[in-house]
Amino acid sequence: MTPASIDSVLELYSSFGNENYDEDVSQLAHALQCAALASRDGANEELIAAALLHDIGHLFEIQRNNGPDHQTDLRHEHAGAEFLRGLFPESVTTAIALHVEAKRYLAANELDYFDALSLGSKRSLEVQGGPFTAQESSAFLARKGSSDAVALRRWDDHGKVIDLAVPEFATWIPLLKRVSISE
Ligand SMILES: [Fe+2]
Repeated sequence: MTPASIDSVLELYSSFGNENYDEDVSQLAHALQCAALASRDGANEELIAAALLHDIGHLFEIQRNNGPDHQTDLRHEHAGAEFLRGLFPESVTTAIALHVEAKRYLAANELDYFDALSLGSKRSLEVQGGPFTAQESSAFLARKGSSDAVALRRWDDHGKVIDLAVPEFATWIPLLKRVSISE
């Protein structure tokens, strides 16, 4: 895989962003809604960048398979974090790497969290290992960056609104450049 650059990130979203994220929205719409929610909630720039790019690993799956793979857990969160390492600081890549574990944590520890998940997220939770045990939950909370990952997860769960008007990808490029550690 070629090392990540802002240009290669843009290229991935322009090539594969129109593919479905779930039943209702595209990968690009989902990414943009998550960034908009993070910004609305006053997140710092690193976390907004993480919200925007958290599912970039799905774009690799699409690139490889000609479509998202919902049956197997390809650990898109790690593929995404790995790709972005070197381009963005650890605060960004850790939030991305832990956003699936954050779902497993919330499903285990928040009443009603599971019920409120979209059908697609319920299905993927199963493939991803299901809700954490109490022991796994405490281990997760002890990890650096877990609270950012939980915040990211909440935007992730809400960034699925059909036809929501949000700022376009280009709006976030200056922020990505400021957050980047290599450009
Ligand atoms: Fe997501």
